[in-house]
Amino acid sequence: MRIAVFSAKPYDRRFLEAANADAGHDLVFYEAGLQSSTTVLADGFPAICAFVNDVLDAEVLQSLQQQGTRLITLRSAGFNHVDIEAAEALGLTVARVPAYSPYAVAEHTVALLLALNRRLHRAYTRVRETNFSLDGLLGFDVHDKTVGIVGTGKIGTIVARILKGFGCHLLAYDLYPNDTCRDLGVEYVALDDLFARSDIITLHTPLTPDTYHLIDEAALEQMQDGVMLLNTSRGALVDTLAVIDALKAGRVGALGLDVYEEEGDLFFEDLSDHVIQDDTFARLLTFPNVLITGHQAFFTEEAMSNIAETTLGNVTAFEQDGEVLHPVTTEMIA
Ligand code: NAI
Repeated sequence: MRIAVFSAKPYDRRFLEAANADAGHDLVFYEAGLQSSTTVLADGFPAICAFVNDVLDAEVLQSLQQQGTRLITLRSAGFNHVDIEAAEALGLTVARVPAYSPYAVAEHTVALLLALNRRLHRAYTRVRETNFSLDGLLGFDVHDKTVGIVGTGKIGTIVARILKGFGCHLLAYDLYPNDTCRDLGVEYVALDDLFARSDIITLHTPLTPDTYHLIDEAALEQMQDGVMLLNTSRGALVDTLAVIDALKAGRVGALGLDVYEEEGDLFFEDLSDHVIQDDTFARLLTFPNVLITGHQAFFTEEAMSNIAETTLGNVTAFEQDGEVLHPVTTEMIA
């Protein structure tokens, strides 16, 4: 099947071409992101392939459908950027990659935790300047600390397993508690309780209307002074302005982010020659106790191979049976 691949970086190309050696689809790569002005690039393509910051609102979906597209295949697990109701109404099939490597994201979360705690981001630059002073690098033992995991699906469960190995006390909040976590000794509690008792809080829920700004001013007020907050899920789980206020007041002790509310205008591009126009993001960069990575938690060899294979598997199934392996439907957002 002919597939227009949007937001295609060299690494996407490498993994998709490798997976396509068996699948045999006709891949056309576009560096451009998908938005209303670029839908024309997919004119006549029965399938398009999109990533997390591509725009898939009703307007874009309608244009794609009018141009002959029938399948939207996402190279991501999250589908909060797709107007699923509009897609269904237009008769478009939407597919995703539900799990490619939960280990990749869980391990990156723990990397942020450890780097922030031991100030590795500051130590690295200091030592390169032959500054071996330890002032400002004081951390704490992760052992015996209480970690609150919000969302214990595939990723949150692996975070729990890793942190169990560190000797942490584990609290969790999820709409659907799971026995794997219970067997690890995770204590499921109400969200307020988790906020109040945790030294470290890490977010692993999808972005939905219910989880939008889950961490807002009211939530931050319930947390312990000096709490470490980690978000490797979706930026809009956190009200960034509220967290900046809490950082300025010293109430949040450390913030680790792999995602940001307005990352669509920033992440995945080299902007080092540009003036950043987003003042909120620029403010975040000024804090010594904030560590940000640009949506790279998923980015491992294993995850990229799985994403490419599952994405093309969705297309092959659609071509052969008219149904994808991993559909996204309106029931999933109900
Ligand atoms: P999952 O679907 O396995 O787990 C999500 C968990 O959140 C489920 O247990 C679900 O019951 C729970 N949940 C949903 N709504 C909730 C609510 N309102 N309150 C409490 N719990 C709720 O998903 P998985 O694979 O663990 O991924 C989690 C998120 O991580 C994804 O939705 C995605 O946004 C993000 N992600 C980030 C990546 C990155 O590179 N930074 C890569 C992959 C995923």
